[in-house]
Amino acid sequence: MTSRTTPTPSVDYVEDVSPGSGALPPRAWYASSDATSLSLNGDWRFRLSPTADAEDDSFAAEGYDAGDWAEVVVPGHWVLQGDGAFGAPIYTNTLYPFPVDPPRVPTENPTGDHLRVFDLPAEWPADGSAVIRFDGVESCARVWLNGTDIGEFKGSRLPHEFAVGHLLKAKGNVLAVRVHQWSAGSYLEDQDQWWLPGIFRDVTLLHRPAGSVLDFFVHASYDHVTGAGTLRVDSDVDGRVTVPGLDIDVATGEPVTVRVEPWTAETPRLYDGVLVTEGERVPLRIGFRTVVLEDGLIKVNGKAILFKGVNRHEWHPEKGRSLDLQTMREDVLLMKRHNLNAVRTSHYPPHPAFLDLCDEYGLWVIDECDLETHGFVEQAWRDNPVDDDRWTPALLDRAARMVERDKNHPSVVMWSLGNEAGTGRGLTAMAEWIHGRDGSRLVHYEGDWNCRDTDVYSRMYADHTEVERIGQNLDGGTHKRRGLPFIQCEYGHAMGNGPGGIADYQRIFEAYERLQGGFIWEWIDHGITHPELGYAYGGDFGEELHDGNFVCDGLIFPDRTPSPGLVEYKKVIEPVRIDGDAADGTVRITNAYDFADLSALAFEWAYQVDGETVEAGALSVPALAPGESAEVKLPPPPANSTGGETQWTVRALLAEATAWGPKDHVIAWAQLPVSGRTSPTVAASTAPVPGERLITLGPAAFDARTGALRSVGGVDVSGLRLDVWRAPTDNDDGASWQDDTRWGVLWRKNGLHRMRHRLDAVEFGDDALTVRTRVAPAAWEVGLRTVYRWTSDGTRLKLTVSVAPEGDWKVPLPRLGIRFGLAEADGVKWFGGGPGEAYPDTRSASVLGRWESSVDELQTPYVRPQENGARADVRWAELGGLRIEGDPEFWFSARRWTTEHLDEAQHLTDLTPGDTVWVNLDHGQHGIGSQSCGPGPLPQYFLRAEPTEFSFVFSRIG
Ligand code: GAL
Repeated sequence: MTSRTTPTPSVDYVEDVSPGSGALPPRAWYASSDATSLSLNGDWRFRLSPTADAEDDSFAAEGYDAGDWAEVVVPGHWVLQGDGAFGAPIYTNTLYPFPVDPPRVPTENPTGDHLRVFDLPAEWPADGSAVIRFDGVESCARVWLNGTDIGEFKGSRLPHEFAVGHLLKAKGNVLAVRVHQWSAGSYLEDQDQWWLPGIFRDVTLLHRPAGSVLDFFVHASYDHVTGAGTLRVDSDVDGRVTVPGLDIDVATGEPVTVRVEPWTAETPRLYDGVLVTEGERVPLRIGFRTVVLEDGLIKVNGKAILFKGVNRHEWHPEKGRSLDLQTMREDVLLMKRHNLNAVRTSHYPPHPAFLDLCDEYGLWVIDECDLETHGFVEQAWRDNPVDDDRWTPALLDRAARMVERDKNHPSVVMWSLGNEAGTGRGLTAMAEWIHGRDGSRLVHYEGDWNCRDTDVYSRMYADHTEVERIGQNLDGGTHKRRGLPFIQCEYGHAMGNGPGGIADYQRIFEAYERLQGGFIWEWIDHGITHPELGYAYGGDFGEELHDGNFVCDGLIFPDRTPSPGLVEYKKVIEPVRIDGDAADGTVRITNAYDFADLSALAFEWAYQVDGETVEAGALSVPALAPGESAEVKLPPPPANSTGGETQWTVRALLAEATAWGPKDHVIAWAQLPVSGRTSPTVAASTAPVPGERLITLGPAAFDARTGALRSVGGVDVSGLRLDVWRAPTDNDDGASWQDDTRWGVLWRKNGLHRMRHRLDAVEFGDDALTVRTRVAPAAWEVGLRTVYRWTSDGTRLKLTVSVAPEGDWKVPLPRLGIRFGLAEADGVKWFGGGPGEAYPDTRSASVLGRWESSVDELQTPYVRPQENGARADVRWAELGGLRIEGDPEFWFSARRWTTEHLDEAQHLTDLTPGDTVWVNLDHGQHGIGSQSCGPGPLPQYFLRAEPTEFSFVFSRIG
């Protein structure tokens, strides 16, 4: 038998570990003032093939007829276009969605041929050269212009440029780009995110006039002792640098020192300048600042800084990682408005425009390289590319493409080698190269706890106790590590409801000098807009391997609405601390900024009685320097405002609009109680009256046989009983690799979702109706003896619930309270914590006041439905014609579905409102924690099963 081989185009480059061929050396990313450019974004012809070599390269030739091809929008991911006709996204956290056999990739390798025909604009100069720049293509591309193969590249979130001047013609240029979903590069890009092939960032043709700028490096340091800034712009092509605002006009390469205002994230002073070479003018935005590691601390301009940061993936629910400028700006504005001061660009360099925004608005940036090899952990890191010299050129190429592209951004204070790639010689080589190329910034990498290559000790998800020990220098570690500052590059896993416990972390960060803050994981839920499911997550596209909703773990929802987690974080990291003792009429204001004084802020006070403001006014606070405090006198409490529960609310607001926030935007606040609340009292003066079917007691009717409440003041009430179950949150359920304190799992195992209510007795007294029960799950001996004692003064009805645990309770309770159904309820009013939800360890941002909402608006739309929407510290609530007062205060929630329904739902679209509004009045809720990736709730937030008593008073309103 003879064998026959079909000639196929060579696709060896796809599995080649080298970074590629043909591209120009990396250089700074900038927009020229005068050189012409042509955006090639827009509609491109598109053809999808199942394998890398299914089609030959004839499509790249001039004259090829692509008339029957489909179209895609560039920038974009093809799997998010074409209504499913172009394949689908895949979500895995750490697992490679293909066999691990580096650098080989599957034969099934979706390959998208992209074709664009363009004319040069009339003004395109006849002389000079040109380059074509790809800002991001996942994961490997080969490029032809007018039939000539100009090269191929990998490194999805990094720019690649090719010289094309000699190939261009005035009309009918044919740009052909073949993009392979899988390549050797995929092994270096195992970040926890959707796999999304495509040309997802801009494609631009840049004219390069003779004598134009090539690469340049702006060195702009600040001497905090003298107040002087030193500028030196090194340029491959000689020229002059002018900064009109500083009267600077010097040759490139020549240093100049002048008095400047420094750049910091809090005071992002940028000076406009120009780099002029013979052939081009390039605008510069110069920020003077000096970043050093000194005394074991990260210092900027001589001061240790505290990161109040977040990890940001690029995400848009329809466009994936293809973000427009407006969306990037929205992210930055949201961050600034929520008091964040830092971003880690997890886990790849972002679109370059994002860094311009960080320079402009002020955010410290850890710029992270496009590198993660997490999937190798499955084989104990064997064959890890970062420890295999064959891959080192690719790693160095990635480091260089990041550093060269982004080196002129004052906001970038650290370079990060990548994420979760184990350890190895390749990482060391990257760090050495970076240190050599840019001594003005620090190097970060979390994966090496010995800090061999890094300038900072960085960890993720270390629990509070460990972080505190690190703060106290009791953590040991290598000699080098012991001398380094500490950051948590990821903590506070914001998946679903949560993260809990971040206020506790912040207290620790602020208590120890060595701890320089952290970055919440993560900024945004990567939900994908889906016609049936609302937002899709892992598994919704039929993926063979996936990690479910672990991809939805952000502080903002996919549509960029802030989640309660962001509101909490804003409060926890507020840069002004307000406290004090209202009793002596003073309040202490502390400036917790690192650099800014308080001159941009205005302060105001309000005096509230029972949650309603009776008087408000301005509070005069000196423009305190960072770290300073002042005691400020409050006015005398308003006359005639005694009685009721009283408090001061003091707020710090923007005195004037800034670049990122309107006048009166709230920066910080505190509430100082004056006089406490008086608990509701009901004189038990009415006796229950038994009837044939109903028992009556004051305004209430009960089932004569079971003692179950039927109505209060004519309002029907159904199913009132003790409730301990909540639809487990992602943080309750915990991650599969977590230890045996995954409460959501243990609760289910212990049957807390299927408690049975045994009726033991219905007793009539002279002044009370008493119903005795035992609430317990099948199969176990544990139970809760529960007594409902009903009394009335004739118009109001009081319920006292006494709970006594029996047996050996090994788990805390999810919640403890009562639930009941109301047939009709929509508007809700309450006096308590609001406006948003709160739980025991996520309640910092809960403001005590009077609030109103609809039942629907009480719900927090977590992408995967789960417990949500509780309001804390509620004194009273009104809904459905009833007023309910608590003794003590309670947690309030109401929804149009049961907890069981909520528990079953996988997407928000599974939640269909029923006829009943289910109300929960909880005496306690278990903490939230962040065990979906980090530690669970701290012990002080546990809801332990112990003898408990609590009461509610019901009355009819309206
Ligand atoms: C970290 C990782 C992130 C993300 C997070 C969990 O280990 O660096 O990329 O996977 O866990 O959401």
